[in-house]
Amino acid sequence: MSLRDRLAAQIAATGPLTVAQYMTACLHDPKGGYYTTRPAIGEHGDFVTAPMISQMFGELIGVWTAATWAQLGGPKRFRLVEMGPGDGTLMSDILRTARLVEGFLEAADIWLVETSEPLKALQRERLGERVRWAADLSDVPGEAPLILVANELLDCLPARQFVRRATGWAEQMVALNAEGELAFALFPTPAGGLLPDAPVGAVFEQSSAQAALGASLGVRIADDGGAALLVDYGRALPGFGDTLQALRRHEKVDPLACPGEADLTVHADFPSVLGAAQAHGARTAMLTQGAFLARLGVGERAEALVRANPENAAMIGRQLGRLVGADQMGSLFKVACIHSRGWTPPAFEEV
Ligand SMILES: C[S@@+](CC[C@H](N)C(=O)[O-])C[C@H]1O[C@@H](n2cnc3c(N)ncnc32)[C@H](O)[C@@H]1O
Repeated sequence: MSLRDRLAAQIAATGPLTVAQYMTACLHDPKGGYYTTRPAIGEHGDFVTAPMISQMFGELIGVWTAATWAQLGGPKRFRLVEMGPGDGTLMSDILRTARLVEGFLEAADIWLVETSEPLKALQRERLGERVRWAADLSDVPGEAPLILVANELLDCLPARQFVRRATGWAEQMVALNAEGELAFALFPTPAGGLLPDAPVGAVFEQSSAQAALGASLGVRIADDGGAALLVDYGRALPGFGDTLQALRRHEKVDPLACPGEADLTVHADFPSVLGAAQAHGARTAMLTQGAFLARLGVGERAEALVRANPENAAMIGRQLGRLVGADQMGSLFKVACIHSRGWTPPAFEEV
């Protein structure tokens, strides 16, 4: 039975699903979830991420990682963690760059936090045996400083959606229509009293999973020291809007059309993630991706690549534009940093 048919049977038997429950099933159902069965990242897959657009992205995150380690005093042992590492390109670029800093690799205890078996196999192929895997951040040992990166992970964490009606807030749920098809429907919710006021028609998204990750990182970093870099598309200030999106072969599709066959995301809610980290004793900072990469020298890196390969100048120019252009990833994507007290991580200094 397809995931769609199983979800329809479940809704008929036990009632509508929250959007968060629907996202979790579509992404992680053991038999039909997107990441469980068919994740396809890259030009020939469903979507492309920054590390795949250009090596410059991962190299500069590698520079940031090594500079952060040095700023922490070059600890002899630290946990280098990537969450949601996809096909392993980002970690491979980080290690190729950061290994140039003496002592970094010897000190790094490298962990990948990943739930997808097919992607773990790709990561193993690319990174070999020097890394270890955990299904959850809590499985990565503590008691050493943490340097963590996650690109496009927050957007896979499920969110509930609420819609403001004239009579108050209602929860948007996945139900069945008269033809037995999956369809969105609004239901009264006791959570309404806790939500902010908004004009009729406004959509409010709430991701407990994103906030919980912010809290775990806050606790961990306040206790062990270090920094986490979260790169994602999303909102920098609290706001409203329906951002649920399904992507299949680089095209937006109806999120209810093919459960488990498309990548399903919502915007990162940075105010909630960073607020949760601060509430647990960590400090936070945020830049746009364009500003972050510029401060780390992406322009100079592009020029060096062009000098080495003049025949690729046009392609490198296009890649740079995609990463930092204000009308491309440069403004919509944000780089948020959660860090321990008493220092400011590289690139986030006041200018
Ligand atoms: C959109 S991909 C991003 C891949 C990679 N970071 C990149 O930039 O190319 C999302 C990644 O997060 C992983 N993932 C999804 N949900 C997760 C969860 N709850 N915990 C850990 N990893 C998760 C996916 O399997 C995949 O590796």
